[in-house]
Amino acid sequence: MERELLQWLRCPECKASLELRDAVENDGEVESGALACSCGREYPVLRSIPRFVESDEYTASFSFEWDIHRSTQYDAGGKTASRDTFTSDTNFQLHEMEGKLCLDVGVGSGRFADVVDRAGGIVIGVDFSFAVDAAAQMLKDRPNVHLVQADVFRLPFEEKTFDYIYSIGVLHHTPDCEAAFKCLPGLLKPDGKIAIYVYSAYVGQEQINRAWRVMTTRLPKRLLYFLCVLTVPLHYVWNRYRFQELFWHYVLPGVVFHLVPKIHDYHDWRARLLDTFDWYSPVYQSKHTYPEVCAWFRESGLVDVRPLGPEVCVCGVRPEE
Ligand SMILES: C[S@@+](CC[C@H](N)C(=O)[O-])C[C@H]1O[C@@H](n2cnc3c(N)ncnc32)[C@H](O)[C@@H]1O
Ligand SMILES: [Zn+2]
Repeated sequence: MERELLQWLRCPECKASLELRDAVENDGEVESGALACSCGREYPVLRSIPRFVESDEYTASFSFEWDIHRSTQYDAGGKTASRDTFTSDTNFQLHEMEGKLCLDVGVGSGRFADVVDRAGGIVIGVDFSFAVDAAAQMLKDRPNVHLVQADVFRLPFEEKTFDYIYSIGVLHHTPDCEAAFKCLPGLLKPDGKIAIYVYSAYVGQEQINRAWRVMTTRLPKRLLYFLCVLTVPLHYVWNRYRFQELFWHYVLPGVVFHLVPKIHDYHDWRARLLDTFDWYSPVYQSKHTYPEVCAWFRESGLVDVRPLGPEVCVCGVRPEE
């Protein structure tokens, strides 16, 4: 943790400033210590990251997946998939983010923090899970990226702090997506921008998906991951050579096809494995519609609310006062 981060951190309970105590520093970075509040609460700094939660609770599957797949979705070697996803899901202009303070809610292993940092933004990435440790390894030596382990429902920041807030693929993994979203607009400065992406309710086969997830979310994470390792490559070959199409059309048509679990079909095998595990492992997974999400934005006082299709991505602006 850089000392600079202290200026933005507040006690999640009483919103007072925090005082750094017993700091052990190395090369200008705080490796461990405690953040003390005048209300008597204390929050540890462990492995250079301030921790505002005691464990990863319902996000343990994410701690597991990001530890294995920390680099899978990063842009490297000319790939721009994360940058492209970021711009299409948020509608933020990267060149306008230079020098701006940005909150990445549910930072995961940090692929979007990487994009914003490269554009010159200052990013605070928060995540409930130990994904923050994976992100810290991927983004070390980036003085403008700060990581915090915290719950979206108890964020350690003051009102009107951020120029930009984004949360991509996160809020539908909380127990209450709408309530989680509504914790965010107050943290924007006037004229600040916010964008989210949540799973779409327009995709079919929800009953079958739910039935599979009743089982998969209860499996030990290692076993589920092992099953993904076994089935994802088979599924890919099956798909690629169109065996599947022939089989379902001529041998077992109709309803049986719909019982086959959804498996992601990206070109990169690691991304297929990651996203398939990411679909079947999280405890919470909710789906939403455009009218519903746009209403959350308007109820929070945001203006210039825009759906960004085809997924459920919505952006908005906090009006000037
Ligand atoms: C599918 S990952 C997306 C990560 C990243 N935004 C990306 O797209 O690469 C969802 C992330 O949301 C985090 N998350 C879930 N519930 C959360 C909560 N209540 N507060 C903060 N983060 C949460 C998980 O730990 C996980 O890292
Ligand atoms: Zn306090």
